[in-house]
Amino acid sequence: MVKPAEIFEANIPRPLGELREAQAFAPSNIALSKYWGKRDAGLNLPLNSSLSISLGSWGTETTIRPSEQDTLIFNGTKMASDTAAAAKIWRFVDLFCGVGRPALAIETSNNIPTAAGLASSASGFAALTLALNAAFACNLSKPTMSMLARFGSGSATRSFWQGFVRWDAGDAPDGSDSFATPLEVDFPSFRIAILTVDSGPKSHSSTDGMTHTVRSSPLFENWPDKANADCAEIERHIRNGNFVAIGELAEANALAMHATMMAARPAVCYLKPETWSILQDLWRARQDGLVAYATMDAGPNVKLVFEESTASDVLNVFPNAQMINPFEGSSV
Ligand code: DP6
Repeated sequence: MVKPAEIFEANIPRPLGELREAQAFAPSNIALSKYWGKRDAGLNLPLNSSLSISLGSWGTETTIRPSEQDTLIFNGTKMASDTAAAAKIWRFVDLFCGVGRPALAIETSNNIPTAAGLASSASGFAALTLALNAAFACNLSKPTMSMLARFGSGSATRSFWQGFVRWDAGDAPDGSDSFATPLEVDFPSFRIAILTVDSGPKSHSSTDGMTHTVRSSPLFENWPDKANADCAEIERHIRNGNFVAIGELAEANALAMHATMMAARPAVCYLKPETWSILQDLWRARQDGLVAYATMDAGPNVKLVFEESTASDVLNVFPNAQMINPFEGSSV
């Protein structure tokens, strides 16, 4: 069985270049067709392909500097190395750098309003990979970085590009074909709104939630094939510019993912009463003609997708919505 360290050794030129200060930014992303379930936990390989939209200038900025000792500063606060989040970051740094690495200082911050309650592991591990690549002058390609960032968090594979990005599950046992690719489709009218229900930490990590779902949910066996089909179909609708079909499928895919979790034994439910009340308001408004669709990840917050021409109608129904223009200033 291949070990994570062997994959890093095979892809990153050793010895590493001399460490110098480097900074990198990666956008956060929201999956329109979700990743849920691993076929190999050790190599963090997914059971199904997924497709996301990146959030433009909302994301993580990470700086790496030479230092006397390892330090990690997250959003301006020093993080103790014994927290689970810090341990995950240092494990990734150790894999990337190999044995005998120099001490380094990592300073990382999310410019996503904390109140938006969006997870930061996708943009966090993509920005960390980009910053390590620059700090040690590794000159890795984005597909290689995407493949390696998977070891930090699966959704990070999709945070190396703006716009729509597909992460192919791949089928190689060592995961060498499991990385993301940008679709390179411009969709300037595409908009996202975040409806925050709770900005606190998740009740269970996505890793734990998906592992438990795969193991115990009687509804899970139908998920990987259906999720792969949704992913291919959403891509086709993106290429044809069919917004309604994208929105309908994205909402159905998210609800199907949550259904697999709710059928797990015992149930995993990230959605809260306020999430359901937002969905009821959305579905009622849709009957009155609002063309907007919802998606939810491993947390209670709702993300809406709609087109620019619908933005004021969305704000009428949801005055607290935080609007994002994912294609602003980008030439995908
Ligand atoms: C529901 O990427 O956080 O957001 O690979 O275990 O770190 P790990 O999981 P993670 O899972 C994301 C799950 C999701 C759907 C998605 O983003 O595709």
